[in-house]
Amino acid sequence: MRSLALFGFTLCVCLFGSEARIYGRCEFARALANLGVPRNQIPTWTCIAQKESNFDTAARNWSSGDHGILQISQIYWCTEGGGPGKGCNTECWRFRDADIVNDVRCAQKVYNEHTRLSGDGFNAWTTYKYCRGDMSQWIQGCF
Ligand SMILES: *[C@@H]1O[C@H](CO)[C@@H](O)[C@H](O)[C@H]1NC(C)=O
Repeated sequence: MRSLALFGFTLCVCLFGSEARIYGRCEFARALANLGVPRNQIPTWTCIAQKESNFDTAARNWSSGDHGILQISQIYWCTEGGGPGKGCNTECWRFRDADIVNDVRCAQKVYNEHTRLSGDGFNAWTTYKYCRGDMSQWIQGCF
Protein backbone atom coordinates (compact mmCIF):
# COMPACT_ATOMS: atom_id res chain seq x y z
CA MET A 1 0.00 0.00 0.00
CA ARG A 2 2.68 2.39 1.07
CA SER A 3 4.81 1.86 -2.01
CA LEU A 4 1.77 2.18 -4.21
CA ALA A 5 0.92 5.54 -2.61
CA LEU A 6 4.47 6.71 -3.09
CA PHE A 7 4.35 5.56 -6.71
CA GLY A 8 1.13 7.50 -7.21
CA PHE A 9 2.64 10.60 -5.72
CA THR A 10 5.76 10.33 -7.85
CA LEU A 11 3.65 9.82 -10.95
CA CYS A 12 1.64 12.93 -10.10
CA VAL A 13 4.75 15.05 -9.62
CA CYS A 14 6.10 13.72 -12.90
CA LEU A 15 2.94 14.40 -14.86
CA PHE A 16 2.25 17.83 -13.48
CA GLY A 17 5.86 18.81 -12.94
CA SER A 18 6.40 19.49 -16.63
CA GLU A 19 3.30 21.63 -16.96
CA ALA A 20 3.92 24.46 -14.57
CA ARG A 21 6.94 26.34 -13.49
CA ILE A 22 7.34 29.55 -11.55
CA TYR A 23 10.31 31.54 -12.75
CA GLY A 24 12.38 33.73 -10.53
CA ARG A 25 12.73 37.37 -11.58
CA CYS A 26 16.42 37.08 -12.50
CA GLU A 27 15.96 33.60 -13.89
CA PHE A 28 13.42 35.01 -16.35
CA ALA A 29 15.61 38.02 -17.20
CA ARG A 30 18.61 35.75 -17.88
CA ALA A 31 16.50 33.36 -19.95
CA LEU A 32 15.53 36.30 -22.18
CA ALA A 33 19.15 37.35 -22.51
CA ASN A 34 20.10 33.80 -23.50
CA LEU A 35 17.40 33.88 -26.17
CA GLY A 36 18.90 37.03 -27.65
CA VAL A 37 16.23 39.48 -26.52
CA PRO A 38 17.76 42.99 -26.74
CA ARG A 39 19.21 43.88 -23.36
CA ASN A 40 17.44 47.25 -23.19
CA GLN A 41 14.05 45.49 -23.50
CA ILE A 42 14.64 42.96 -20.74
CA PRO A 43 13.64 45.15 -17.74
CA THR A 44 10.28 45.94 -19.39
CA TRP A 45 9.63 42.31 -20.40
CA THR A 46 10.42 41.21 -16.86
CA CYS A 47 8.04 43.76 -15.39
CA ILE A 48 5.30 42.73 -17.84
CA ALA A 49 5.76 39.02 -17.06
CA GLN A 50 5.42 39.72 -13.35
CA LYS A 51 2.27 41.81 -13.83
CA GLU A 52 0.74 39.38 -16.31
CA SER A 53 1.41 36.02 -14.67
CA ASN A 54 3.60 36.49 -11.61
CA PHE A 55 6.13 34.46 -13.65
CA ASP A 56 3.87 31.39 -13.68
CA THR A 57 4.27 29.51 -16.95
CA ALA A 58 0.87 27.85 -16.46
CA ALA A 59 -1.08 31.10 -16.07
CA ARG A 60 -4.36 31.19 -17.90
CA ASN A 61 -6.97 33.92 -18.02
CA TRP A 62 -10.25 32.28 -18.99
CA SER A 63 -12.09 35.53 -19.50
CA SER A 64 -9.58 37.17 -21.83
CA GLY A 65 -8.21 33.93 -23.34
CA ASP A 66 -4.59 34.69 -22.50
CA HIS A 67 -1.96 32.01 -21.95
CA GLY A 68 1.35 31.54 -20.19
CA ILE A 69 4.01 33.64 -18.57
CA LEU A 70 3.48 36.51 -21.05
CA GLN A 71 -0.29 35.97 -21.39
CA ILE A 72 -0.41 35.59 -25.15
CA SER A 73 -3.89 36.03 -26.62
CA GLN A 74 -5.82 33.23 -28.27
CA ILE A 75 -7.79 35.84 -30.22
CA TYR A 76 -4.87 36.45 -32.57
CA TRP A 77 -1.88 34.26 -31.80
CA CYS A 78 -2.74 30.65 -30.94
CA THR A 79 -5.53 28.13 -31.32
CA GLU A 80 -7.76 26.37 -28.82
CA GLY A 81 -8.36 23.06 -30.60
CA GLY A 82 -8.31 22.26 -34.29
CA GLY A 83 -4.55 22.03 -34.59
CA PRO A 84 -1.84 24.70 -34.62
CA GLY A 85 -2.71 28.05 -36.16
CA LYS A 86 -3.19 31.82 -35.93
CA GLY A 87 -0.35 34.34 -35.74
CA CYS A 88 2.19 32.14 -34.01
CA ASN A 89 1.03 28.94 -35.72
CA THR A 90 0.64 27.00 -32.50
CA GLU A 91 -1.81 25.66 -29.96
CA CYS A 92 -2.33 27.78 -26.85
CA TRP A 93 -1.49 25.03 -24.35
CA ARG A 94 2.09 25.17 -25.58
CA PHE A 95 2.33 28.63 -24.03
CA ARG A 96 1.30 27.15 -20.66
CA ASP A 97 3.95 24.46 -20.41
CA ALA A 98 7.27 24.88 -18.63
CA ASP A 99 9.14 25.73 -21.83
CA ILE A 100 9.15 29.49 -22.40
CA VAL A 101 11.18 29.55 -25.61
CA ASN A 102 8.07 29.46 -27.82
CA ASP A 103 6.36 32.04 -25.58
CA VAL A 104 9.27 34.43 -26.02
CA ARG A 105 9.47 33.86 -29.78
CA CYS A 106 5.75 34.52 -30.16
CA ALA A 107 5.92 37.54 -27.85
CA GLN A 108 8.64 38.96 -30.09
CA LYS A 109 6.35 38.49 -33.07
CA VAL A 110 3.53 40.27 -31.20
CA TYR A 111 6.00 42.99 -30.25
CA ASN A 112 7.16 43.47 -33.84
CA GLU A 113 3.60 43.59 -35.13
CA HIS A 114 2.63 46.23 -32.58
CA THR A 115 5.78 48.22 -33.24
CA ARG A 116 4.62 48.37 -36.82
CA LEU A 117 1.09 49.37 -35.78
CA SER A 118 1.79 51.82 -32.97
CA GLY A 119 5.50 52.47 -32.79
CA ASP A 120 5.91 50.62 -29.49
CA GLY A 121 5.50 46.86 -29.42
CA PHE A 122 4.88 46.73 -25.68
CA ASN A 123 1.53 48.43 -26.30
CA ALA A 124 0.20 44.94 -27.03
CA TRP A 125 0.27 44.23 -23.27
CA THR A 126 -2.30 46.08 -21.16
CA THR A 127 -0.01 45.78 -18.13
CA TYR A 128 2.60 47.89 -19.95
CA LYS A 129 1.01 50.88 -18.22
CA TYR A 130 2.61 49.61 -14.99
CA CYS A 131 5.96 49.05 -16.69
CA ARG A 132 6.86 52.37 -18.28
CA GLY A 133 9.88 54.50 -17.61
CA ASP A 134 13.00 53.35 -15.83
CA MET A 135 12.43 49.67 -15.11
CA SER A 136 16.06 48.89 -14.29
CA GLN A 137 15.12 47.67 -10.82
CA TRP A 138 13.58 44.62 -12.48
CA ILE A 139 16.98 43.31 -13.52
CA GLN A 140 18.88 44.54 -10.52
CA GLY A 141 21.39 41.91 -9.39
CA CYS A 142 20.60 39.63 -12.35
CA PHE A 143 23.61 40.07 -14.64
C1 LIG B 1 -8.02 38.60 -17.19
O1 LIG B 1 -8.39 39.41 -18.27
C2 LIG B 1 -9.31 40.42 -17.94
C3 LIG B 1 -9.74 41.07 -19.25
O2 LIG B 1 -8.64 41.52 -19.99
C4 LIG B 1 -8.63 41.37 -16.99
O3 LIG B 1 -9.50 42.43 -16.65
C5 LIG B 1 -8.21 40.64 -15.74
O4 LIG B 1 -7.47 41.48 -14.90
C6 LIG B 1 -7.35 39.44 -16.11
N1 LIG B 1 -7.12 38.63 -14.92
C7 LIG B 1 -5.91 38.39 -14.46
C8 LIG B 1 -5.84 37.51 -13.27
O5 LIG B 1 -4.91 38.83 -14.98
